[in-house]
Amino acid sequence: MVELAGQVAIVTGATSGIGMALARALDARGVRLVLTGRRADRLDALVAELGAARAVAGDITDPVLPGRLVEAALEAHGRLDIACNNAGLLAFGTIEEIDLERMATMVRVNVEATYRFAYTVLRHFKAQNHGHLVNTSSVAGTKVRPTIGAYAGTKHAIEALAHGLRMELATTDVRISNVQPGLVATDIFAHMPADEHPGRQQGIDQPLRPEDVARAVLFMLEQPAHVSIPTLMLKPTHQPM
Ligand SMILES: NC(=O)c1ccc[n+]([C@@H]2O[C@H](COP(=O)([O-])OP(=O)(O)OC[C@H]3O[C@@H](n4cnc5c(N)ncnc54)[C@H](OP(=O)(O)O)[C@@H]3O)[C@@H](O)[C@H]2O)c1
Repeated sequence: MVELAGQVAIVTGATSGIGMALARALDARGVRLVLTGRRADRLDALVAELGAARAVAGDITDPVLPGRLVEAALEAHGRLDIACNNAGLLAFGTIEEIDLERMATMVRVNVEATYRFAYTVLRHFKAQNHGHLVNTSSVAGTKVRPTIGAYAGTKHAIEALAHGLRMELATTDVRISNVQPGLVATDIFAHMPADEHPGRQQGIDQPLRPEDVARAVLFMLEQPAHVSIPTLMLKPTHQPM
């Protein structure tokens, strides 16, 4: 197993949900952190709770932010080993009802910013021939349902990117893993009317918890150096799929 203690990780989308659970799980393993998200107050509270973490607040669609995150890791902790490319949002709805501005923002965050962060950290990882990029994809990275075509498209895009990058890096010691959660109880659904919540629509009585996803990510990160897990899907037991 890879010993995570002493390694350094960046987590995007650390102010909430899966990213916050990832930050706590990595911290519990002794990983030193750089955490980002727009809500500086939440980042500061999380940093105060954790062992060795630095907050860099910002909008992940800002083209300079990925580079600043790498610099912050090197400046604060002297190295960078892990990058959790997790920030994202959901725009959802029928052809008539989907909010097109929210959809466009989703594409910028889930695709453009996710790609930019991936390439930025991979340049660093490739140069040092070491590092693990973990993208938060989704079951929607491989499966589509009515009303989530746009969101699923953003996650399919992450899957295609990771596939190509893994092939480029196959002769190196750099690893890329995508975690593909099913329904997780987080704020990503906070903007939806209760009767449109996918948990209610699909009759899922017990969604995943963010900590369940964090545990799956730790499993991928802790594999011995010669083992790479490209994708790990987990879903609520009662989610029909
Ligand atoms: N919940 C699920 O059922 C589920 C299932 C599969 C995959 N996922 C994926 O999991 C990831 C995390 O989502 P979550 O469920 O944990 O949702 P969440 O609780 O709403 O967290 C989303 C995170 O993304 C950050 N974020 C969003 N837009 C941003 C922006 N423009 N700039 C910087 N940060 C931004 C938010 O930070 P700020 O608002 O502070 O900026 C927040 O920390 C997403 O990629 C999502 O697609 C979720």
